[in-house]
Amino acid sequence: MKALVKQKAEPGLWLMDVPEPAIGPGDVLIKVLRTGICGTDLHIRAWDGWAQQSIDTPLTIGHEFVGEVVETGRDVADIEAGDLVSGEGHLVCGKCRNCLAGRRHLCRATVGLGVGRDGAFAEYVALPATNVWVHRVPVDLDIAAVFDPFGNAVHTALSFPLVGEDVLITGAGPIGIMAAAVARHAGARNVMITDVSEARLALARKVGVSLAVNVAETPIAEGQRALGLREGFDVGLEMSGRPEAMRDMIANMTHGGRIAVLGLPAEEFPVDWSRIVTSMITIKGIYGREMFETWYAMSVLLEGGLDLAPVITGRYPYQDFDAAFDDAASGQSGKIILDWTV
Ligand SMILES: NC(=O)c1ccc[n+]([C@@H]2O[C@H](COP(=O)([O-])OP(=O)(O)OC[C@H]3O[C@@H](n4cnc5c(N)ncnc54)[C@H](O)[C@@H]3O)[C@@H](O)[C@H]2O)c1
Ligand SMILES: [Zn+2]
Ligand SMILES: [Zn+2]
Repeated sequence: MKALVKQKAEPGLWLMDVPEPAIGPGDVLIKVLRTGICGTDLHIRAWDGWAQQSIDTPLTIGHEFVGEVVETGRDVADIEAGDLVSGEGHLVCGKCRNCLAGRRHLCRATVGLGVGRDGAFAEYVALPATNVWVHRVPVDLDIAAVFDPFGNAVHTALSFPLVGEDVLITGAGPIGIMAAAVARHAGARNVMITDVSEARLALARKVGVSLAVNVAETPIAEGQRALGLREGFDVGLEMSGRPEAMRDMIANMTHGGRIAVLGLPAEEFPVDWSRIVTSMITIKGIYGREMFETWYAMSVLLEGGLDLAPVITGRYPYQDFDAAFDDAASGQSGKIILDWTV
């Protein structure tokens, strides 16, 4: 089968023929229909410092996908050939304290699909049945392909109650924009989003944010005044990974404000800890999705009318992966989809 492979320890990706994956008794074989390109895939293509430390070549990359089940292992119940599925890309150990307690998203030995083992940018992918999410509610194929980052957005946005609250989101990348749509849908009063890219702020406006602010020109405090807030934001969702965004968010929270942090900073950085202490701010790190509470929330949010269509800005046949990756790396786009059926 065709697969997009990190074949050599150098920048680039290679579209090549590899053997179809074999399945064990608890696994499911999936014919991949569409995949989403993630920042992680861009790091692997660019072969930056993180990729050099984290990736063993050769590796089939990719973890955001939708596909159709073609075969199930002997011990698999409740999933059948023909089911439309996406996959949870965090493979957990099943043996640590958190796994045994059912808190699988807190596993201490998580292996990433398309990072620590062969991934989904291929004609077929095999996954343990316990990592498969069956779409029982009708879903658009492009949206189903990005359930993994949509799950990051939902997990972060629903970390704290949002009804009637004033919400600040730093970073209008695809995940920040999806989180803004979720916060709106979940009943926030104001949703303000920030970025330094006008193209991305324009995308964010399409999902109905109250205010989209270019922080290269306008500080967050000014946006707060424009919205008429008197005491600061109640909930912050950090989705840029940028030190200056985190610092400015902390400075603009109300006393007792709550911040969920998804953005992954490239390195350590200082923040105003006395302000966090004296304002009694809660900061919560978010990694991945809750299995499968977040997935349940995603499906029913879509069923309830949540519209993510503006987030998808490009679709390419998998053979044009280089152009698709350039589009995704441009900093102008939303989610970019690869079609594996053409
Ligand atoms: N914790 C997890 O499980 C997890 C999973 C996926 C992604 N992530 C991280 O979440 C973040 C969002 O993911 P994404 O795919 O949307 O990333 P992205 O890189 O596409 O988006 C980040 C956005 O932040 C903007 N930005 C830069 N400086 C800014 C500033 N000072 N203020 C506000 N915005 C600024 C960028 O222009 C960009 O649009 C990334 O940091 C990513 O690494 C974490
Ligand atoms: Zn991803
Ligand atoms: Zn575990």
